Amino acid sequence: MPDSTPQRTLRIAMNGVTGRMGYRQHLVRSILPIRDSGGLLLPDGTRIRVEPILVGRNTAKLAELAERHGIAEWSTDAAAVIADPSIDIYFDAQVTSRRAEALAAAVKAGKHVFTEKPTAETLTEAVELARVAANAGVTAGVVHDKLYLPGLVKLRRLVDEGFFGRILSLRGEFGYWVFEGDGQPAQRPSWNYRAEDGGGIVVDMFCHWNYVLEGLLGKVEAVTARAATHIPTRWDEQGKPYPATADDAAYGIFEMENGAIAQINSSWAVRVYRDELVEFQIDGTHGSAVAGLRKCVAQHRSHTPKPVWNPDLPVTEPFRDQWLDVPANAELDNGFKLQWEEFLTDVVTGRPHRYGMLSAARGVQLAELGLRSSAEGRRIEIPEVTL
Ligand SMILES: NC(=O)c1ccc[n+]([C@@H]2O[C@H](COP(=O)([O-])OP(=O)(O)OC[C@H]3O[C@@H](n4cnc5c(N)ncnc54)[C@H](O)[C@@H]3O)[C@@H](O)[C@H]2O)c1
Repeated sequence: MPDSTPQRTLRIAMNGVTGRMGYRQHLVRSILPIRDSGGLLLPDGTRIRVEPILVGRNTAKLAELAERHGIAEWSTDAAAVIADPSIDIYFDAQVTSRRAEALAAAVKAGKHVFTEKPTAETLTEAVELARVAANAGVTAGVVHDKLYLPGLVKLRRLVDEGFFGRILSLRGEFGYWVFEGDGQPAQRPSWNYRAEDGGGIVVDMFCHWNYVLEGLLGKVEAVTARAATHIPTRWDEQGKPYPATADDAAYGIFEMENGAIAQINSSWAVRVYRDELVEFQIDGTHGSAVAGLRKCVAQHRSHTPKPVWNPDLPVTEPFRDQWLDVPANAELDNGFKLQWEEFLTDVVTGRPHRYGMLSAARGVQLAELGLRSSAEGRRIEIPEVTL
């Protein structure tokens, strides 16, 4: 019997798929599983199929990737792909410094756009991009992957259920040791450590922290940050030493609209003594919770021990055992894939994506003001971003 399910095929130009994020999270963990499962089924019965078109600079790498994953089309001519009327969506995971221009060109050509963060290197560019996207009437979305992670989904549920009472503070700890590259090769690209190439942990992470904070507690009203370059020399992909001109650690305090104080350390120069590479703790009058990428534990007021400070005695309280696991109560898939599925649904149904270019611009703004706070040694209030 012929398949009578209404179908829609979305052709997605994917630029930057030879890179870490573009390849692993977006192609292999998101678009290919959606393609290989026969597409995404919407509640109204429509099936969305996806057709990736790989875009990049290196013919050999693209051809190899296309062959490995059974992808029919690839191109090194990004402008031609963007001009191709058969392409529905342009996706960008290039290095940050090339993003804003490519996205603006795609939007002007009438493409829907989905992109890695940050959308631009400056707030001015990010807002301009948001304006162009709004005028073009396309669906535009930015990766807010952390909000889709099981740990943060559970944490958000606790917020929604009023578990915390009045939320007092949030503490975040993010980071791990990124090898300098002289002995063992570095596990992150060298451009991340060069300011002139769009690198730096503030630019990289503060846009994440902005949407994480907005998603959990509300708007950020002020920032006080201190960025540092702890490791001044690193070795690149060719084994050559280079001066690390970008910050590799940032210590930030964020004042929230609900009165809570958030404090997040981000560092590529720390060693991990945590359960996960990122952890957030929320403390409230009625309870506290700690969430990582996957796990979340909570402690209610009525289960809170009453420790007494006495450095003369060994610790007898098993503090870590006094927290209860927060269950998922649902199948929580890869965060990038979940957001892709939401974005593809938005494109087909015409619904705006939850995390659009203005949200992206607020992330860029927090990074920009965080760097200014550090350079000027002062607290900075955050003005509202408008088109
Ligand atoms: N959402 C997240 O958690 C997350 C994590 C890491 C990185 N990112 C973002 O993803 C983007 C890509 O980061 P990545 O770690 O995959 O980087 P990467 O260096 O591994 O990949 C960069 C990609 O851009 C391409 N590129 C285009 N022009 C280039 C140029 N002039 N120099 C070098 N590469 C060029 C490369 O070929 C490659 O495909 C960045 O914007 C970064 O901020 C997001």
